[in-house]
Amino acid sequence: MIEVGTGVRMGRRDVMKASALLAASAWAPVATARDTRDHGARIRDLLSRMTLAEKIGQMNQIAGGRQKALNSRLDAGMLDRVRRGEMGSFLHVAGAEPLRRLQKIAVEESRLGIPLLFAMDVIHGYRTTLPVPLALAAGWDPAMMERAAALMAEEAWAAGLHWTFTPMVDVARDPRWGRVVEGAGEDAYLSSRMAEAQVRGLEGPVRRAGEPPAKGRVLSCSKHFVGYGAVAGGRDYDSADVSERTLHEVYLPPFHAAMRAGSGSFMTAFNDVAGVPMTANEALVGGELRGRWGYQGLVVSDWNAIPELINHGVAATPAEAAALALRAGVDMDMASSTYADHLATAVTADASLVPLIDQAVTRILTTKARLGLFDDPYRFGDAAREKAPLARGTARELATRSIVLLRNEGAVLPLKPAARIALIGALADDASSALGSWRARGQTEDAVTLRRALPQATFDPGTDPAAARVAASADVVLLAIGEDYDMTGEARSRSDIALPGAQQALIDAVRAAGKPIVAILMGGRPLALERALTNIPAVLQTWFLGIESGPAIADVLWGKVSPAGRLPIEMPRTTGQLPMSYAHVPTGRPANPDLAVDSARYHDGAIGPLFAFGHGLSYARFRYSPLTIEQRSDAAVISVAVTNDGSVKADEVVQLYVRDPVASVARPIAELRGFGRVALAPGEQRTVRFTLDHAQVALWKAGKWVIEAGAIEVMVGSSSADIRQRGRFSVAAGEGTVPAASIATLVEVV
Ligand code: BGC
Repeated sequence: MIEVGTGVRMGRRDVMKASALLAASAWAPVATARDTRDHGARIRDLLSRMTLAEKIGQMNQIAGGRQKALNSRLDAGMLDRVRRGEMGSFLHVAGAEPLRRLQKIAVEESRLGIPLLFAMDVIHGYRTTLPVPLALAAGWDPAMMERAAALMAEEAWAAGLHWTFTPMVDVARDPRWGRVVEGAGEDAYLSSRMAEAQVRGLEGPVRRAGEPPAKGRVLSCSKHFVGYGAVAGGRDYDSADVSERTLHEVYLPPFHAAMRAGSGSFMTAFNDVAGVPMTANEALVGGELRGRWGYQGLVVSDWNAIPELINHGVAATPAEAAALALRAGVDMDMASSTYADHLATAVTADASLVPLIDQAVTRILTTKARLGLFDDPYRFGDAAREKAPLARGTARELATRSIVLLRNEGAVLPLKPAARIALIGALADDASSALGSWRARGQTEDAVTLRRALPQATFDPGTDPAAARVAASADVVLLAIGEDYDMTGEARSRSDIALPGAQQALIDAVRAAGKPIVAILMGGRPLALERALTNIPAVLQTWFLGIESGPAIADVLWGKVSPAGRLPIEMPRTTGQLPMSYAHVPTGRPANPDLAVDSARYHDGAIGPLFAFGHGLSYARFRYSPLTIEQRSDAAVISVAVTNDGSVKADEVVQLYVRDPVASVARPIAELRGFGRVALAPGEQRTVRFTLDHAQVALWKAGKWVIEAGAIEVMVGSSSADIRQRGRFSVAAGEGTVPAASIATLVEVV
């Protein structure tokens, strides 16, 4: 028996099979993994019968409601537009019955009977609100991410939805950017694993040609292509000016991984890259994604991004904006009606757009065909299953697994059974914030807060001096601090990510009571908490954990479960350090603790993050054996035995980093290239074996993936800052075919 990640036990052959699907060699540039049946004949026939207006109608996605009032715009006028064939898709709609009625109008009352595509942002749960994506990524467990996505898909499917705008696979190294909450953090390798896990969970296992998706699966949308996480200063929607190398090595890999996992649609980003807005970026959308990568799926714009090309200063009129987006390869216009209102004008001026329209419509119709909608337009939606109870068990388990223990001096945690507990901080009782940034149909009353989960604690929302009094009469203080749900997310960039509001004063007041404090950090981004956490012995990062937030945090506080989450993005000391990443390149004058030495550091602060990438503690202790490294012609097999030296059952996240110490260009001081979350009983030892393909150390140079001959350093440990064992292997010169970080390492636990 082999254990992969956590809890999932499978035979060795299954592991090999699963990993082979992900390996670079299994990827062929022309076919995405999904239904490759030739729907061509049906689609060519339809296309030959469509008017230009009907074609443009397919390229039009309109909001059928608002995010907080789904379906609210589906009035008589809108339904007439469906009858006239002016709509290809709706977003912000949901519900098995209403969507069935809407589909019936398209299928039975429009001239060609083409079914509609129904879409919604189901980001971390539809009815059952799960931890936010950044929290799920902190589980460092793709199998758990896949389960989360599968649950979301099933609930969304039951509500008649075909399509969700998930996963967000934008790598983000600047948490001033509020959308850091929606992704998997700062690392290209971790983000790639989380991207493919989400695609698998949403769309299901790779299907045979001609086979529609199973019931309960939906179309994914990998977004936002590309560079959105690199916006200047972390300001949402701003410009991204990234080097070719960084684009290919850091920002593009998760998209490639998502594509190989079969993601059926991509969304272009709002930002420009080096001056070319992504909605009009022919080189990256048409050239790289569709051309070099061979991506065949649908590309949708982001909300209103086509007319915003005028604001970017690359188009003078809506017709010009429409033509630019079409030329770049954007098939569908989200929400702006610019294609609907202006593409026909653009065509009159430039007939060469006509074949591009046909291509876009072909991709849209192919997407509908692959979902099986031409065979059965009503195959999504099930009013009975829509009423299924919330999946509380899964929500609690995933939430518990997402919690990161950042500090635990003097073993304050787990709590002693008889301890008198003070619970302080409004966030401990904020059900709305527990739900996080995107809530779909999640209800505030579904959320069990920490206050509700700890009825034995004396609660105070944080009023002074009451909080200090409550603290003084307890043995231990649980202090819930951080951000509320509305402080992260889209258009929620902040110039200062220290503790907001009056919370620092609250900490100071509580600290004066002299009791041990457990800080329980809530929020959607890593905050800059060097000052806030001074002299606080225990710190838990609990993000926004969804409907089972309280019980999950309580499970960890009481030691029912040993925490094993790890930071998917490092926590800075101060905002001024940003952007930052553990995977930076070395400089000629590396940061030196001696201020008398001129080096790459700030004079007014300590070097490095407060908590490093990959950091997370446990209630157990783990010992790492020296590495054994087997050199193969095209791979290195690195094995390490890990032993639980503690007294409780716990998971350890074993992490593998590589570095190319001498190359033709400076290489990052460490890059994650493998990890496994391994469950170990007290005294138990397991060997973790990583099979690393040489293509995983390739670097992007002059438009190619180049493997440079020489030594590669390997570092294995418990975090990027807690390396326990080191070794080396060598590689021969060669070339890679796909982004190095997008390739999954085979991880076996024996
Ligand atoms: C966001 C997308 C989202 C879309 C639809 C946009 O503002 O950038 O991520 O999918 O709205 O709600």
